[in-house]
Amino acid sequence: MKILLTGANGQVGRALWPGLHHFGDVIPTTRDGHPVHGMGTVALDLANNRQLAQVLDAARPDIIINAAAYTAVDQAESEPQTAQAVNAEAVGQMAEYNARHGSRLIHFSTDYVFSGPAGAPWRETDAIAPASVYGQSKALGEQYIIEAGGDYKIFRTAWVYSLHGHNFLKTMLRLLATGHRSLRVVDDQTGSPTAAADLARMVLLTLTHPATGLFHATGGGNTTWCGFARRIFSHAQRLGLIEHKPEVIPVTTEEYPTAAPRPAYSVLDNSKLHTTFGCGLPHWHSGLQHTMQDLSPTYLDEISALRRGLSAAGDADTHPNNRRCRKEDRVLNQ
Ligand SMILES: NC(=O)c1ccc[n+]([C@@H]2O[C@H](COP(=O)([O-])OP(=O)(O)OC[C@H]3O[C@@H](n4cnc5c(N)ncnc54)[C@H](OP(=O)(O)O)[C@@H]3O)[C@@H](O)[C@H]2O)c1
Repeated sequence: MKILLTGANGQVGRALWPGLHHFGDVIPTTRDGHPVHGMGTVALDLANNRQLAQVLDAARPDIIINAAAYTAVDQAESEPQTAQAVNAEAVGQMAEYNARHGSRLIHFSTDYVFSGPAGAPWRETDAIAPASVYGQSKALGEQYIIEAGGDYKIFRTAWVYSLHGHNFLKTMLRLLATGHRSLRVVDDQTGSPTAAADLARMVLLTLTHPATGLFHATGGGNTTWCGFARRIFSHAQRLGLIEHKPEVIPVTTEEYPTAAPRPAYSVLDNSKLHTTFGCGLPHWHSGLQHTMQDLSPTYLDEISALRRGLSAAGDADTHPNNRRCRKEDRVLNQ
């Protein structure tokens, strides 16, 4: 069996890659074709439809796992065409190939297809209303897959983090490393943090299952970014990474404007996933604990690199409201 994995250098792609070898030959792709962890990858820029057609024709995959996406939520507001090309048009192209060749497509979408007031967890059958360019481009990608038909699984996930890449956990750890005594974090957006490793495990468990369709797949439970930050700091203290937890000061979305609007409530109901496959993702507390248990060596390296950088730049500002903190917090919501 041949498995084409796009976005092999992303959070989810990296988490999936090792386990895929049990199912067949993996053809990992990255935008630039550079090796990942010393393993070769095929260059595939999803904004280039000719290159995508060539890679699909050359690989002739039995399974396409599309873990690549334009995920810069705020940047997408000023680059709508690129977001659309990667998150919608390329996905449509993969979906058409998949339906025509009888392969299987695994794709990831987002809780940001929803907007609206806080309420009950969103189900797959609820009407979507994406408020951002990113959300709209991902929604169109979903639509193209559903219209093309064939054998597909779309997993809508949310608030993904791992020890690799750009995500909220990494941002909080970087801020810890710089010695902030207090941090202002958004407390009026509610969602479900999802460990990339837990999502990958679930995908591997369901990979050969014949069910097709759209499934919500997030860590169990829910919290706000503020609650997420507090739990990260508690674990960091328990692991001995910090002596004192910084104070987390709740702020509103209004106080912290971002280029892209975010849903106030984007908790996803995962019951369809459980009833269809008999499995799901663990509670987000457990995902975070396991992810952070693997942290120490990486984190210590990062601390010393950061401290070296800071002293070289003469910048040891720990003021809670400094620009570094505010700027980083803006990019942390996905
Ligand atoms: N992260 C979240 O919080 C979150 C939440 C909900 C849903 N999702 C969805 O989950 C999936 C996986 O996300 P993730 O967190 O693993 O994202 P990620 O860490 O940002 O990885 C995305 C990957 O896509 C690649 N990519 C971006 N533009 C590309 C292009 N033009 N051509 C080829 N590759 C390109 C990136 O490559 P480079 O490294 O070269 O840029 C990166 O490796 C995505 O579908 C995303 O929309 C994510």
